[in-house]
Amino acid sequence: MGFKIKKIKAREVLDSRGTPTIEAELLTDSCCARAIVPSGASTGIHEALELRDNDRKRYNGKGVLKAAENVRSKIAKKIQGMDCRRQREIDSILIELDGTENKSRLGANAILGVSIAVCKAGAICSNMQLYGHVQKLCGSKKFMLPVPQMNILDGGAHVGAENDIQEYMIIPYDFKSFSECLRAGTETYYVVKNRIEKKYGYKAVSVTAEGGFIAPMDGVEERLEFLQSSIEEAGYGGKIKLALDCAASEFYDDKNKKYTISDKEYSVDELIDFYNGLAKKFSIISIEDGFAQDDWNGWKSFNKELGKKIQVVGDDLLVTNIARIRKALDEKACNALLLKANQIGTVTEAIDAAGISFKNKWNVVVSHRSGETEDSFIADLCVGISSNQCKFGAPARSERTTKYNRLLRIEEELGNKAGLARL
Ligand code: PGA
Ligand code: ZN
Repeated sequence: MGFKIKKIKAREVLDSRGTPTIEAELLTDSCCARAIVPSGASTGIHEALELRDNDRKRYNGKGVLKAAENVRSKIAKKIQGMDCRRQREIDSILIELDGTENKSRLGANAILGVSIAVCKAGAICSNMQLYGHVQKLCGSKKFMLPVPQMNILDGGAHVGAENDIQEYMIIPYDFKSFSECLRAGTETYYVVKNRIEKKYGYKAVSVTAEGGFIAPMDGVEERLEFLQSSIEEAGYGGKIKLALDCAASEFYDDKNKKYTISDKEYSVDELIDFYNGLAKKFSIISIEDGFAQDDWNGWKSFNKELGKKIQVVGDDLLVTNIARIRKALDEKACNALLLKANQIGTVTEAIDAAGISFKNKWNVVVSHRSGETEDSFIADLCVGISSNQCKFGAPARSERTTKYNRLLRIEEELGNKAGLARL
């Protein structure tokens, strides 16, 4: 088989928001592998840098021609001729070639596109499934299908609202298989859709970037009550729990150290009480980014108070960055990692971020971005690293369902060789 990288191409394509993104294409003598990079909206300030052209004449400045050129010239020159199975070696060359803390020279989008294409080529040339190849790269011994966190109602930055909790999710967990979880979650989504349409009219059921509905009801409690009763109506009471992604950096004021949700201001202690009250009243089992990205004291107190009862997930706090994960472990700031490969920029660093999290008994939630693509790499990543959960959005819009559908195929292929992760 031809494992040697012969050529690397890159082009500007569109993501699910119609925003340009990078597609990297890698050729060996025997295969061709492509990867498309996703993009966030409520992006953490510590994430690796997405290189954009800032040329207002094209795509409102969002073009990625410079990043594509970096792939074709600087990156291609360096890794052509290398063996595509040597992921770790190639990724460290990419990191070194960039030479900055946040991959701002070449662009994390350029680097990740190549890194994922290398990973896919490594699998194809080895005649392996992509998840199997990922498993080999990370040295994991088991396969597990993830429990899904499914986005149903959206607020905050994802719908253009200020001072608002961003995502209201359901976690179908008490089932025998991933496909049953997906079915229960999807049937609940239908119930939510019907109830919103009946109560708020047909205009209220258009979907957001991640496929959820723009929450038409005011207030956090009303939304959670709506979800809870929809779960009951769908016939899944007790088998589906709730989760929030607050994206609290979006409603934090660094100057007065206060959080604002709707019209109410909260200190750290008041916000902990608020979340605690919600967790007691509703069946919430996971809260992501309950505090702002650099409010370490807020995170520490929150994790101390609630970390034994619920999953405290770090997204903007950790940005899939090993140094920040280490700090969070030292400070006991959270107990789960949200893993987004484009926050850090290479497959190897994403795998290592998961590795250190597992080693410290954290859960790992592999996540999409609000700007996604038809690339289903993260589904294979999930199974390859044996992550506990996946966060791929609502069961709607093909850039989301392509990931769920890939997991269905993997589940079918693995049969009883892979169980469903436990919460
Ligand atoms: P983003 O949102 O992709 O817009 O950052 C997803 C999330 O916060 O989990
Ligand atoms: Zn998040």
